[in-house]
Amino acid sequence: MRRQLYELGELPPLGEVPERMYAQVIRRERYGEPARAFQVEVVDVPPVRPGDVLVLVMAAGINYNNVWAALGQPLDVITQRQRRGEPEDFHIGGSDAAGIVWAVGEGVRQVSVGDHVVLSGCQWDEQAADIRLGVDPVASTSQGAWGYEINYGSFAQFARVREYQCHPKPPQLSWAEAACFMVTAATAYRQLCGWPPHVVRPGAPVLIWGGAGGVGSMAIQITRIFGGVPLAVVSSPERGQHCLRLGARGVIDRTEFDHWGRLPSAEDTEAAAAWTASARAFARRVRDLTPGRALPRIVLEHTGRDTLPTSMYVCDNAGMVVICGGTTGYNGDLDLRFLWTRQKRLQGSHYASVAECRAVTELVAAKRLDPCLSVAVGFDEIGALHQQMYENVLPPGNAAVLVNATSDLAGGGPPAVLSSAPAVPAGSPSW
Ligand SMILES: NC(=O)c1ccc[n+]([C@@H]2O[C@H](COP(=O)([O-])OP(=O)(O)OC[C@H]3O[C@@H](n4cnc5c(N)ncnc54)[C@H](OP(=O)(O)O)[C@@H]3O)[C@@H](O)[C@H]2O)c1
Repeated sequence: MRRQLYELGELPPLGEVPERMYAQVIRRERYGEPARAFQVEVVDVPPVRPGDVLVLVMAAGINYNNVWAALGQPLDVITQRQRRGEPEDFHIGGSDAAGIVWAVGEGVRQVSVGDHVVLSGCQWDEQAADIRLGVDPVASTSQGAWGYEINYGSFAQFARVREYQCHPKPPQLSWAEAACFMVTAATAYRQLCGWPPHVVRPGAPVLIWGGAGGVGSMAIQITRIFGGVPLAVVSSPERGQHCLRLGARGVIDRTEFDHWGRLPSAEDTEAAAAWTASARAFARRVRDLTPGRALPRIVLEHTGRDTLPTSMYVCDNAGMVVICGGTTGYNGDLDLRFLWTRQKRLQGSHYASVAECRAVTELVAAKRLDPCLSVAVGFDEIGALHQQMYENVLPPGNAAVLVNATSDLAGGGPPAVLSSAPAVPAGSPSW
């Protein structure tokens, strides 16, 4: 008889799907600080529909989108899904994972039960009218972030994905290492390689905000792989050291400047002059670090409101500011004069295509891109890790949690640097 529920780390026979599973769940009434928004609950394992793959999650990656999910802002993801007709009154987040294919739906051909996979975090409807007309699926009206806008993410024993989200797990990596990189690496890859003619060029400087964060750590390395010159912005010497170790040519400590936030009104000449003086000093610091004192041809943005005016100012003439997020706020100002007279480009960029996800997986498998796992803790710590991310106190790199893996050595790779929180639940059999 099929067992109802297995403990974390206690694996059912391969392919046997229990009725219920442990999950870290967000509910509407708990929206708020991430530390309290997540709670472990037992919920039904989702049904496997045609084209679906059910993955037994070994480890899950932590991303900023579930800080937003926990806060219930700027999007109440549960209400939004219910408006689309989905019945669940809870959110299971998690847009990154590594695990084992446990069941496949009708029509799935590319993966089989037992495959070790890493998952990518974007879904779309392959039958959508715009995709059939040739629109990039990532830009389709049917597109949504799995584990954020779409339920049954990786913060549970089982995750439900579409077949095209599965990529081969780089064999040398531990489960936690394999789980931590896809969202940040693929997003940075698209920002740096997906918007021709503004792709990384040999010798050309790229300015990277939050160089020690997840996206930043990946962006520094990808810029180097394509011969560009990465410059990283950080907020402490330790974070600067991390960026230099990854190959940044130089780092700038943003705490030495004070012109952050929204632009002063153009009519307030005194405030505008003070802003320009500080931005100019920042641009000089950038020039001091680049070959031939060039300004960056690409500025990699995700910080948003606090930094966008500076990004537009410091970007080279005919260069591109490419933005994938708004950590500090969504109302970004720009002085339009710099946009048109200097013919700059402001480009939105969102996650990545299947091909871009596969490209970063292959770079990781070839040991050219380090997933930069800095923290791997137990399942119970999911709320705490998101809280640390929200407060910008996570160590540099990417973070992961162990779900069914009970030891970070499980994938066969080197041990990760474990934080002080217990990574292995006491008494669990090791996988
Ligand atoms: N659209 C997409 O598909 C996509 C995918 C991935 C991520 N994102 C977005 O990208 C952003 C970054 O994600 P992440 O995973 O890299 O997060 P992260 O690991 O927390 O890194 C964020 C970095 O931002 C920097 N930062 C924080 N406050 C700042 C401020 N006021 N000014 C300048 N820099 C500041 C911090 O570096 P310092 O304090 O050292 O400067 C930190 O390392 C998030 O908003 C996320 O939602 C979007």
